Amino acid sequence: MNINDLKEKFESVFKEKPDRVFFSPGRVNLIGEHIDYNGGHVFPCAISLGTYGLVSMRADDQVACYSLNFEADGVRTFSTKAIRYQADQTWLNYISGTVHLMQEQAGRAVRGFNLLIQGDIPNGAGLSSSASLELLVAYIANQTSQLGLSRLDLVKVGQAVENQFIGVNTGIMDQFAVAMGQENEALFLDVNTLEFDRVPADFGEYALLIMNTNKRRELADSKYNQRRAECEEALARLQKILEIKHLGDLDVETFEANRHLIADPILEARAKHAVYENQRTLQARAALMDHDIEQFANLLNQSHQSLKEDYQVTGIELDTLVQAAWDHEAVLGARMTGAGMGGCAIALVQKEYLDQVQTEIAQAYQQKIGYTPSFYLAEVGSGTCER
Ligand code: GLA
Repeated sequence: MNINDLKEKFESVFKEKPDRVFFSPGRVNLIGEHIDYNGGHVFPCAISLGTYGLVSMRADDQVACYSLNFEADGVRTFSTKAIRYQADQTWLNYISGTVHLMQEQAGRAVRGFNLLIQGDIPNGAGLSSSASLELLVAYIANQTSQLGLSRLDLVKVGQAVENQFIGVNTGIMDQFAVAMGQENEALFLDVNTLEFDRVPADFGEYALLIMNTNKRRELADSKYNQRRAECEEALARLQKILEIKHLGDLDVETFEANRHLIADPILEARAKHAVYENQRTLQARAALMDHDIEQFANLLNQSHQSLKEDYQVTGIELDTLVQAAWDHEAVLGARMTGAGMGGCAIALVQKEYLDQVQTEIAQAYQQKIGYTPSFYLAEVGSGTCER
């Protein structure tokens, strides 16, 4: 749907014209997976797929929401004065939770508004549709109620919505990428200091293809919180001897010399992933800056292998998709992206073979899994903004 169609739809739902139009992207993580809660480095970028929000202001304290992705739900309304989590209100919780935590952060009320949203990021596909929505609403509230919060404040509100309102113990990567992204640039972020730099997302003759397993992943139901707890336990065991705050503080040599302290093969494997993946992320940044796409792709492949074997968050769908990509001559590298356990993978594909690669990967995937994957050729886009 283009913006004019969205405006028409807004008018037909709310019986008035929208005042303003906002957009918030999704993200892919290039590398540095399951690292943002382990004190290391991540390397995501915002993508051109995202969530649109059309807004008109109201005179009361109501927020009335209509999602074109869930039209059957109709208009859902809540008061900014009485916000609580409601188990039966899936998507609305992200909006009400964000308004709630924006008010808390700003120390004053958000004005009521009508909101029509439309997302072209598939939900639950690991492309951060929820962070996209959180930042959209945070940005809208900040602008329309002139709360004066910084972009970084909005990022933290978004993460707090996940952690405190929805109940998933996520790190800060998704909200950071969604808010801070810029066209054609990846963000290299140190999650301890929140210092970051921008690296041109230039893959030379290769395009960044997003491949969706079409297996839905629900973060709250997933192994996400479990992995996080396993890493914390591995860290606690290492801390009996080592003076470290996070697994990300370890280099490979120190980890190898001390891994026996963990004394549990599963916890050891989880920690190994965290330590090695963080080092791979540092190397990947250097490779991309040197235009060494082959080395960059190699690191992506190693990352997937580690997420499969040591971290165990891939599953048959993601492994089949990535293997089919690896098997193709025109693919330089591929890995799962996001939390895993379904959702999406990324691949670096020679631009002139893009069509052929998609057809052949789809065939291989369909044969083994029984349904087809989807593909998106997203560009590396900019962060949450007014359109
Ligand atoms: C999800 C979380 C992020 C991050 C990734 C895995 O997307 O929201 O904070 O932990 O998984 O890298």
